[in-house]
Order: sequence, then C-alpha cells, then structure tokens
Amino acid sequence: MASTKSSPLCFPLFLTSMFLFLQPLVSSFSIKEATVQDLQLAFQRNQLTSRQLVEFYIGEIHRLNPLLKAVVEVNPDARSQADKADRERKAKAAGSLGGLHGIPVLLKDNIATKDKMNTTAGSLALLRSIVPRDAGVVTKLRKAGAIILGKASLSEWAHFRGYFTPSGWCARTGQGKNPYNISQDPCGSSSGSAIAVAANLAAVTLGTETDGSILCPSNNNAIVGIKPTVGLTSRAGVIPITPRQDTVGPMCRTVADAVYVLDAIAGSDSNDNATVEASKYIPRGGYKQFLKIDGLKGKRLGLFRNEFFNVGDGSVYAKAFERHFTTLRQRGAVLVENVNASKYLGVYNTDTNYETLAMTAEFKLAINSYLKELVASPVRSLRDLLAFNNKFSKLEKTKEYGQEYFLDAEATNGMGKKEKAAILRLAKMSRDGFQKLMKENKLDALLSPFSSASSLLATGQYPGIIVPAGYDSQGVPFGLCFGGLKGSEPTLIEIAYAFEQATKIRRPPSINNS
Ligand SMILES: *[C@@H]1O[C@H](CO)[C@@H](O)[C@H](O)[C@H]1NC(C)=O
Ligand SMILES: *[C@@H]1O[C@H](CO)[C@@H](O)[C@H](O)[C@H]1NC(C)=O
Ligand SMILES: *[C@@H]1O[C@H](CO)[C@@H](O)[C@H](O)[C@H]1NC(C)=O
Ligand SMILES: *[C@@H]1O[C@H](CO)[C@@H](O)[C@H](O)[C@H]1NC(C)=O
Repeated sequence: MASTKSSPLCFPLFLTSMFLFLQPLVSSFSIKEATVQDLQLAFQRNQLTSRQLVEFYIGEIHRLNPLLKAVVEVNPDARSQADKADRERKAKAAGSLGGLHGIPVLLKDNIATKDKMNTTAGSLALLRSIVPRDAGVVTKLRKAGAIILGKASLSEWAHFRGYFTPSGWCARTGQGKNPYNISQDPCGSSSGSAIAVAANLAAVTLGTETDGSILCPSNNNAIVGIKPTVGLTSRAGVIPITPRQDTVGPMCRTVADAVYVLDAIAGSDSNDNATVEASKYIPRGGYKQFLKIDGLKGKRLGLFRNEFFNVGDGSVYAKAFERHFTTLRQRGAVLVENVNASKYLGVYNTDTNYETLAMTAEFKLAINSYLKELVASPVRSLRDLLAFNNKFSKLEKTKEYGQEYFLDAEATNGMGKKEKAAILRLAKMSRDGFQKLMKENKLDALLSPFSSASSLLATGQYPGIIVPAGYDSQGVPFGLCFGGLKGSEPTLIEIAYAFEQATKIRRPPSINNS
C-alpha cells in the first residue's frame, strides 16, 4: 500500500529550471485570476501558450499544494495535451475552436479518467483500480479540447464514509486547507476543486454534489459553483452516492468561466440515461447567451428572511446581504417578500430524514455496481471497502473518523418498502414545497445564504448557483445562492452574472502572493 508519507506529486528535476526559464515569457500576461476569456484572448494574441499555462499551474501546485493539499495527482500527460492544443490552435482559424480549447481543468478525484491517473475518491482502497472508460463529462471535456490537468482532493468518498470525518480530509492527501484562512474549514466534499481554483492552481475545476458538495466549498472559498439540474451533466464514471441526486458541475472564479465549463460538459450520454431526458433543458446555442449585464431586470426573487436569512442581527453577514438586496433591486429585480414561505416549507419538517434513509440503500447498490464495472480493482464491493478500512485503519484513520455511513449502507438490503416510500415522500415534499412556492408566486429564483438551501435543492434535483457575497471577521468567504426549478439554468445564469458584475466581491486569497 502506498505510504501517506510519500508525496503523490512527483516532479522531474528539469521542471523547476524550465519553470524559471518560462517565467519571463509569461510575465507580459498575468495568469493569476485570468478568466477563460482572458486566456483565449492571450492565446490568440500570441501572449500565452497552453504549455506555458500548464507549466504555471504545475509550478503553483508544486509551491502551494504542500500546504493546501488540494491536488491528489498531476496528469503526467498534461504537458503533451497542452502541446497538442497549441499545435491545433496554430493550424485552425481563430474562433473555430470552442471556449475550453487549451484550458487546463482539474477534476474532483471521484471523476474517472482512463489515463495514467488514479480515480479513488481520495481513498487508498481504489489505488491501482482501472476504470473501464473516461467519465461522460471527461469525454466531453476532451472533445472540447480541454487539458486534463489532474485530480483534486475531496472529503473522502464525497463525505459518505463516517459521520464525523472532517470536510476536506482524505487519506491520499490529508487535510485540505482553506486558502483564505488555513485554520478554517474549506468545506466539502468538493474541497480540493474549490481550494485549487480559488488559489489559482487551475483555470477551472469540476466538482460533484449530492447535497451541498459544490455549493458549500464554493461558499467557503469565494468562488462560483453551479450545481446543475440532476441529469443535465452525465454521472457515468463518477464514483456515486446516489444517481437520484448526484450531479457534476463547474467550480470557477467567475460566472462566465462556470458557464464555459457548463457548455462543454452538459448534454446526453448513452451511459447515463437521465441525461437523455434532461437534455431537453439545454437551450439552442448553449448557456453563454445568458451572460447578460442586465440579467436582473424584471426577475422575481424570493426573499424569505424568517426561513432563510436568520444570519444574526447586525452581523457581517446580515450587513452584506442587506447591501446585496438593495443592489438586486437597483438592477431591476423584484424581491418578493410578502409571502408566508413557511406555509410551503413546512412539508419538509418531518421526524424522519427521508433523504438519508433513501441514500443509504441507494449508495450500496450504486457503489457495488461501480466497483463491479472496474476493469481491475483491489476492492469489488462495499464489504471489501469496510474490510480495507479496518485492515489499514491507521492510514485511513478509521477509528478516528469512522465509517458509519458505510456500515449503515452495508446493513441495507436493496430498495425495500421503506426506501421506496421515502423516495415517494421526497418527491411529494418537493412538489408541495419548493415547486409550489416557486410556481404560485411566479419566482425566478429563491435567495439563500451560504449553502443553507442545499437539501431543498438536492432532494428535488433542482439547480443552484452560488456567487461570492462577502468575507467574515476571520477572513472566510461566504456566498449568496440562487436556486430554481429544474432546467432553470438560463434564468439562474442571467441573475448570477448580473449580480456578480454589480458586486465583484471575489478577490484572490493572500496566500497567492506569499
Ligand atoms: C497512481 O497510483 C499509483 C499507486 O500509488 C502510483 O504509483 C501512481 O504514480 C499514481 N499515478 C499518478 C499519475 O500519480
Ligand atoms: C438506458 O435505457 C435503455 C433503453 O430504455 C436501456 O436498454 C438501458 O439498459 C439503459 N441503460 C442504463 C445504463 O440504465
Ligand atoms: C405562516 O404559515 C404557517 C404554517 O402554515 C403558520 O403557522 C403561520 O401562522 C403563518 N404566519 C403568518 C404570519 O401568517
Ligand atoms: C483565522 O482563523 C483563526 C481561527 O479561528 C483566527 O484565530 C484568526 O484570527 C483568523 N485569521 C484571520 C486573518 O482572520
């Protein structure tokens, strides 16, 4: 078994000197905080090559990852993919290549790549497992000409191993750190994706969410996260929790970057049937057309203070959100406050956690099926995973961090009466709760602070976009989330983009300058 002491990142000696050599070339264009559009423009103007960009990110990973633990592996093929992109750009007419062509993307380590990299969900148990094929979203990224830069760390098993496993911890890298304050929570489970893109270790990243795993780390790291409608992006080849709620989405420094990524990864995939049905939501011409500066004009936004904005009277959060409400109004949005939202949301107050009940049984089926389909693997079932964690309990911190979700799941026996009833109940709560609230009040989006609406969105398969909204007294960022009905990404993008352009809250962590 790989020792946790040996670094997963290996850098050939020549790289350091090459990186130093390249610095002057890059200096005419500043890569830090550059948007996808900035990068494309720099490519076109011959100020930058994809190779230089990849060398820059690998250099920054080399410099900052020992502290931040955001990256599990760098792709040994990233440089050659960059060279290929540079050759293609020379050969083809300007503007004929897609928005992500030549752009380095970091993937959460639960997204499969059939290449030299491992796909492990952060666990030592899946080291040396061989996946049958690229994940559906990776196939689309490669087709778009994106460079697969590497794998991001995460809360191990997307935070579905132990009840008390810390966010951002996985056995392969140890504890991921919030770049805005390294003694603070980065949140998870897409922790590494958020940390890396916030600290400029990658141009853009992908995360996954089952309930809060894109929204929460985006919140804590001053980035934009899009949690797409379930099925809009393929989950094939993603280490699962439950196909009923799992979704893959962009985690980026700006709304526009996230939209470029969404345009590249959304769409049907024959290995994930839910994508066929959800592809009806994808607008002709893609999502870029909704990056409108006046996107807030006429939008009806649900602002339910009692239900969502109990953030402490006079707190730094309350002050920031009040300012933002004013801005939203000034930009033409109608804030709908005069509704008793509790009348709708009361349906979610139950004694049973139906979501966990369903998910626990679904996880066992989904993970066993994922493990069975691997071409080769040291573990083939959830039972094997439990045994692995017991055998290597020191490396996997099994005693400290537990594996209660695994144990609960192993104790289930397929989708029984109880589980099926739970799923029906979740669907009914979404119809009578969020859907009714949105439809009866003709809302375009629901406003919520942080990732506080994540379960509401997750259990109904609804989309959400979170945008940076401020920094607290410890320097930790927080965001404002816009949630909507299935397929409402175009509207949410208009709202999120116009809000971002009106506020421009994001700033890079000071760790970038150290
Ligand atoms: C994949 O894991 C194996 C086993 O630890 C390791 O030898 C190899 O370097 C890893 N691949 C990459 C690209 O890091
Ligand atoms: C997808 O749907 C087709 C046709 O209904 C079915 O034959 C196939 O087994 C499904 N595939 C998966 C992966 O569920
Ligand atoms: C709002 O609705 C809830 C639940 O139906 C009810 O208990 C409460 O009295 C209502 N509040 C107002 C101000 O009408
Ligand atoms: C970072 O968080 C720690 C722990 O809560 C706190 O003591 C410290 O003041 C924070 N640093 C900054 C720069 O706010």
